Amino acid sequence: MTLTLSHVQPELIDLVGGVRGVLDMRADWQRTAIGVADQLRQHLPGPEVLGSGAAGHPESRTLYVEPDGSFSIMGLAWRPGQVTRIHDHITWCAFGVVQGIEHEEVFDGQLNLVSHNYNYPGQVSGFAPPGDIHRIHNTGTGTAISIHIYGTDISRVGSSVRRYYDLSAAITNPAIGNVI
Ligand SMILES: [Fe+2]
Repeated sequence: MTLTLSHVQPELIDLVGGVRGVLDMRADWQRTAIGVADQLRQHLPGPEVLGSGAAGHPESRTLYVEPDGSFSIMGLAWRPGQVTRIHDHITWCAFGVVQGIEHEEVFDGQLNLVSHNYNYPGQVSGFAPPGDIHRIHNTGTGTAISIHIYGTDISRVGSSVRRYYDLSAAITNPAIGNVI
């Protein structure tokens, strides 16, 4: 199948081409996530890629889906104080902050906090299951915006989340495996 870039907004053309190059290597998920993160770091668009109004209206927006469904690019805007539930993912992922501050906490399989870091504009990371249990929190005073790339057709599967985890259940009943 011949794939074209005719339906890609200009700010994403180099990024889409770079991600395709990584996927062509058919590496495992860990290496793919690192390679895609490298491309996102090199071709990180600005917050305007979400379109007008994004800065004031928290939302997620699918910016691009590869025609063969092998990856999707999303823009996510986060309200001040907004925090995700603890979750993991169905596929590899790379994300980069383009506005604001996003605090990320990473957990092990027993939901012990193993690391945390503050991500500022220009910072990019990539990860893949297993070892991808995390929580994101906009700890800044303004809207935070990040660009996420997932190794699936997000418009078809609906969400990148594999499971949500309940920290209180883990504390009170570790025997259940901490998963709800
Ligand atoms: Fe996530």
